[in-house]
Amino acid sequence: MSDTHRVTFVPVDIEIEVDEDETILDAAFRQGIHLMHGCREGRCSACKSMVLDGDVQMDDYSTFACNDAEAEEGYVLLCRTWAYDDCEIELLNFDEDELLGGAPIQEVHTRVTAIEPKTADIVSLRLETIEPAEFEFKAGQFCDIHIPGNDGLTRSFSLATTPGDPKHLEFLIKKYPGGVFAEQLENSLEAGADLHLTGPYGSFTIKDGRVLPIVLIGGGAGMAPVLSLLRHASEIGLERPMRFYYGARTPADLFYLDEIAALGAGLTDFEFIACLSESMDAAPEGVRVESGNVTDVVDRNEPDLGRTEVYLCGPPPMVDAALALTDQKSVPKDQVFFDKFTSPAFD
Ligand SMILES: Cc1cc2nc3c(=O)[nH]c(=O)nc-3n(C[C@H](O)[C@H](O)[C@H](O)COP(=O)(O)OP(=O)(O)OC[C@H]3O[C@@H](n4cnc5c(N)ncnc54)[C@H](O)[C@@H]3O)c2cc1C
Ligand code: FES
Repeated sequence: MSDTHRVTFVPVDIEIEVDEDETILDAAFRQGIHLMHGCREGRCSACKSMVLDGDVQMDDYSTFACNDAEAEEGYVLLCRTWAYDDCEIELLNFDEDELLGGAPIQEVHTRVTAIEPKTADIVSLRLETIEPAEFEFKAGQFCDIHIPGNDGLTRSFSLATTPGDPKHLEFLIKKYPGGVFAEQLENSLEAGADLHLTGPYGSFTIKDGRVLPIVLIGGGAGMAPVLSLLRHASEIGLERPMRFYYGARTPADLFYLDEIAALGAGLTDFEFIACLSESMDAAPEGVRVESGNVTDVVDRNEPDLGRTEVYLCGPPPMVDAALALTDQKSVPKDQVFFDKFTSPAFD
């Protein structure tokens, strides 16, 4: 049996026990403590924290998420860190409500009800829950989908739906050529098939008690969690101003425009801006369209970004560019939430 150590998190004063054969992030989840996280593979930096005391080791992570100088200073990625001593760790990013009040991780047996193309490379995957009959999660969170026939292999995908309908789930999935799950979506998976999920994970959720305007920035399949937040905002009648910047290449890559318009019409102060990086030809009527990368469009339109809460999500280069913008605009770190759509298949 492996040794167990005590890890204390400051400034929240929470203590957990960590076995030497589990990461600190996994140990925290096992004990109901929902630390900030994203990819859980050492690629996104969402779980970056500072070791104040104790012996830890970090393994198998991307230096984009934690560079050598940071590692030297004592920064670690908790999803890739093992404790070999009692430790004190400073959480750099945390949400006190989420820490103790997150939904429990569940194993969910579902059935595919539909797979519908939304653009040339994005599909909507709809599932209904079988066991448990209802899935507890928060708008904006993601799940691990177990790839059928590939023992233990999972891929992370964000829910596009809300807890308002805990029996029917939707995911928006970009099909990358050669992707293991993409191949199944293309060739074998069909309505009626069983799918197994684990989750929910993630901190891309609208926090209670906050009042700042919200800026949503999504690119490609990053539509999924942003749509979940928007659907949720509509369901609960959220009154905070919201701007939704969606990055795509051409008008053909835009989708769900009618639903976004309808949801927005029911909110107090909402605007959708489609940001097209390659072509504006045949842009849809009645939709505000701007030319350029989504971060450039946000930069042009949001002079007071530092006084908003920013939710950003999509492919890693887009998220990195948007995080650089939030840094440059001095948006406080506790006002920025992101999910970087990394893949375990690339470094
Ligand atoms: C927290 C989180 C939430 C996510 N939510 C979503 C979501 O809602 N919708 C969604 O479509 N994806 C999402 N992703 C990304 C998704 O998990 C990966 O794209 C996944 O690897 C795709 O699985 P696959 O088996 O089809 O492709 P893989 O077998 O994993 O990849 C095959 C090849 O495709 C390419 N590739 C795969 N994914 C990417 C990528 N993200 N960027 C660039 N190239 C890539 C690479 O060349 C890779 O070698 C999320 C990722 C994370 C970490
Ligand atoms: S680097 Fe740890 S959750 Fe992404």
